[in-house]
Amino acid sequence: MKQNNPIIELLKWYIDSGIDVALENRPVNRLDLSTQSLSTKFDTTKSNKPPSQRKVQTTISSENILMSQDDTLKNAQINSAQANTLDDLRLAMENFNGCPLRETAKNLVFGSGNPNSKLMLVGEAPGAEEDRQGVPFVGKAGQLLDKMLASINMSREDVYITNLLPWRPPGNRTPTAAEIDALIPFAERHVELIAPKVLVFVGGTAAKAFLKSDQGIMKLRGKWLDYSMGYKKRPIHARAILHPAYLLRQPAQKRETWCDLIEIRTKLTQHK
Ligand code: URA
Repeated sequence: MKQNNPIIELLKWYIDSGIDVALENRPVNRLDLSTQSLSTKFDTTKSNKPPSQRKVQTTISSENILMSQDDTLKNAQINSAQANTLDDLRLAMENFNGCPLRETAKNLVFGSGNPNSKLMLVGEAPGAEEDRQGVPFVGKAGQLLDKMLASINMSREDVYITNLLPWRPPGNRTPTAAEIDALIPFAERHVELIAPKVLVFVGGTAAKAFLKSDQGIMKLRGKWLDYSMGYKKRPIHARAILHPAYLLRQPAQKRETWCDLIEIRTKLTQHK
């Protein structure tokens, strides 16, 4: 009988468990500013200073790190605001190095569909298939989204689709607050550039982040919401719907989503 290769078996086990990105052998606690690795990295004077002064230097390094996180946020705000076209925005995102997800993702997943559409959908973040193809919502959840759109006589070519985050979180984990904070200026600018009549948040993560709300998706869905874009006085119509990945696990909830989709279709016809 053929023996299975234990290394291949182990890798399969990792992949089945959602561990599909190799980072480093040992975790790095980047918040622990006293660690040797950080002080070594940032303390350029370590070799010729007495230990007491090195400690001071470590503290200064800590401030540098915190400041640079703050700068990261400002960079995201400035760079996204300066983007006047979708191409500018994509370039600004490609050049943005304030989010480590970029290092583990295969592709930047920017957006797809009709940029002149009245309807824009914003999901959470790319999954494995989206990461491979560089296109949003092309995996299993995306195929269900296509069917949901078809149920109101629309196709993905009729709408514009993007995500809150352009890079896949490893293993499809939920994005952290820091990742969302660093990247939301780009996503908000994306909405401003498309300027849809109706904006749909696909899933709770996008809805909460854009609306700056603590409420869960079950509270946010089922009603019209106002979404204010920076430069426009009047808010645009927004709606939160259940994420198709959730509907795949909870098909009984499709009924609620169908009602949301009908509302969206009706609102669009009022904007002829
Ligand atoms: N889920 C999302 O939120 N976005 C995608 O692009 C794919 C799955």
